[in-house]
Amino acid sequence: MKNIRLAMPSLKDARMRKKKEIPTIYYQMEEKYRKLGVGKTYAVFTYGCQGNEADSEVMAGILEEMGYETAQDPMTADVVILNTCAIRENAEQRIWGVLGQLKGKKRENPDMIIGIAGCMPQEEKTTHKILESYDFIDLVFGTHNKDHLPKLLYQAYMTKAKVVEVLSEEGNILEKAPKKREFHHKAWVNIMYGCDEFCTYCIVPYTRGKERSRKKEDILKEVEELVLKGYQEITLLGQNVNAYGKDLQTGYTFGDLLYDLDRTGIKRIRFTTSHPKDLDEKTIRAMRDCPSVMPHLHLPVQSGDNEILRKMNRKYTVEEYMEKIRLLKESVPGISLTTDIIVGFPNETEEQFQRTLDLVDRVQFEGAFTFIYSKREGTPASLLEDEITEEEKHQRLYRLNEKVNAGYLKGHQRFLGQVVEVLVDGFSKNGDGMMCGYTPHLKLTHFKAQNPDLIGTVVSVKITEAKTWFMIGELCE
Ligand code: SAH
Ligand code: SF4
Ligand code: F3S
Repeated sequence: MKNIRLAMPSLKDARMRKKKEIPTIYYQMEEKYRKLGVGKTYAVFTYGCQGNEADSEVMAGILEEMGYETAQDPMTADVVILNTCAIRENAEQRIWGVLGQLKGKKRENPDMIIGIAGCMPQEEKTTHKILESYDFIDLVFGTHNKDHLPKLLYQAYMTKAKVVEVLSEEGNILEKAPKKREFHHKAWVNIMYGCDEFCTYCIVPYTRGKERSRKKEDILKEVEELVLKGYQEITLLGQNVNAYGKDLQTGYTFGDLLYDLDRTGIKRIRFTTSHPKDLDEKTIRAMRDCPSVMPHLHLPVQSGDNEILRKMNRKYTVEEYMEKIRLLKESVPGISLTTDIIVGFPNETEEQFQRTLDLVDRVQFEGAFTFIYSKREGTPASLLEDEITEEEKHQRLYRLNEKVNAGYLKGHQRFLGQVVEVLVDGFSKNGDGMMCGYTPHLKLTHFKAQNPDLIGTVVSVKITEAKTWFMIGELCE
């Protein structure tokens, strides 16, 4: 298959942080692309973080503006796009597996267009591998140019070649792009893109580029429009939301944004992810003062050992982290705290791992995403020699998860007998006549009901049972 290489990725270029102004562009689709998808179907598969989920909503919005319709069976759509994640080796393995299945489908329907987007193509090794051995992939693009999708699709149709456009320098800030939101009552709202932290294990600063914040006016406007449409909840997105606004140098911070968003009338505000180093008092005050800011915080700690934190380039100590936790608990009584933890960072000792276990006990997390360290090519940590065996790493993950799971259960048990407010998402997956949604503390709650009118409303539920992964309750009349 012929290749059209508009731009190829470079991790080295992606590392650069040039001083330049990031222009905001207002999306508009060229007329010639508008009818390209009429009579055809599409599917977007999403992997990875909420940032990718939000990007997929934009891709779906763009495809629908081109005339494409959602496919009943995503595996046989006319255009299939995989929006990928490169955070860990196993995330990538899953995606190669799905690509293998799609290869078979394309044999049955040779006109199918298969595209790979998101974080994986930003890695040189992935894009080279696709060019060398994945002939059935038609489109390769990254995280900075999803707005080019119509142009790239058009070229793929016209030339029957593999079209590659992966930019290593961060893109513009895209406003007014069409979005096909998954829900009608809760929405993702990006407040910034990229990451400047360079934690030594992490690929994100390379795949997402320099930190850049959206203008506050654009964010407020988007949320005001969501309120008018009846949305109840927003989740503000960024790799380090507490760094919001630093690049704009106006002195307006994330805390200020929370206070302003509270006044828009949106019922529930959540945000992810916070970096412990940048979580400031104003943000904590906003969590205390603003009724719409929910009493849950995800604050990734990664490790409970100062030496490991230093090697990870996290820029805080365990003591500093604990001080923020103290302030959070004091300011927002009953707050639910969750975190991310990596075990088996190169040469982590048993004592160092024990300190992580101790920290989990001290904070009393009510949930955590736990990971075994995965080596990412191009990151500083990937150069470290590592002596820990795979078995030891799995053992540590197991021991950590035992503790973390007990925390999940305790976090649910504390609501037994209480009436909680649940924003209803829909019918429970197992189809047993239950509906479900989340409480302010982000506890998944199931209750008996069969009424589709409840979706998107807040109902009162009395909690009768606490499990590890969810709570069960009765709807209050
Ligand atoms: N920006 C967020 C998280 C982004 S990635 C933050 O800093 O908190 C989500 C989580 O994946 C991280 O918090 C970390 O725990 C984990 N992670 C990132 N890189 C990893 C790697 N190379 N191996 C294992 N886990 C990793
Ligand atoms: Fe990765 Fe660290 Fe940035 Fe989070 S803050 S995305 S872990 S580099
Ligand atoms: Fe994955 Fe990229 Fe998000 S690597 S976690 S999809 S920023």
